[in-house]
Amino acid sequence: MASLLVVHHSPTASVRALTDAVIAGAHDDVIVGVEVLVRPALEATADDVLAADGYLLGTPANFGYMSGALKHFFDTIFLEAGGALSDDGSASAATGGKKPFGLWVHGRYDTTGAVRSVLSIVQALPWVQAADVLEVLGEVTESDTAKAYELGGTLAALLME
Ligand SMILES: Cc1cc2nc3c(=O)[nH]c(=O)nc-3n(C[C@H](O)[C@H](O)[C@H](O)COP(=O)(O)O)c2cc1C
Repeated sequence: MASLLVVHHSPTASVRALTDAVIAGAHDDVIVGVEVLVRPALEATADDVLAADGYLLGTPANFGYMSGALKHFFDTIFLEAGGALSDDGSASAATGGKKPFGLWVHGRYDTTGAVRSVLSIVQALPWVQAADVLEVLGEVTESDTAKAYELGGTLAALLME
């Protein structure tokens, strides 16, 4: 069975609402044959990553960056998950990325830096972006949770045999 790993940091109700909708979408009735594994970012391991066929990542924007918890996730799993470092220690471009990933980011005024921070690391993993990044500012509306549901469903559907 294919496996979709959801790694998230959801410290407030706003972010949690998006996370819950992403997870619900990944469990949509039309999805069959896909196991959905949900891990808080501080608990996800390299084994979780290696065992998965696709990924959904969620974070608030903090100080123009991803949350410290999601950064901890990347710090922990990056090399074991096949990440490549440049000589200066930055994440270098991966070749042959195949496992799909999606990303959602919640902020109050600007999520640009947070999105960039995640994508700059993920481009050095053997993963491929499979959906537009979902960026939500401020109050989470029904339209936002619908988009989050769709994001979860999209990634899960990609893993169906
Ligand atoms: C330390 C800290 C830094 C933050 N930095 C940003 C930021 O750079 N951009 C932004 O849009 N929101 C920022 N925020 C707001 C958070 O993204 C927001 O609190 C989080 O997404 C949860 O949303 P909520 O507080 O509306 O529930 C920051 C919040 C904190 C506590």
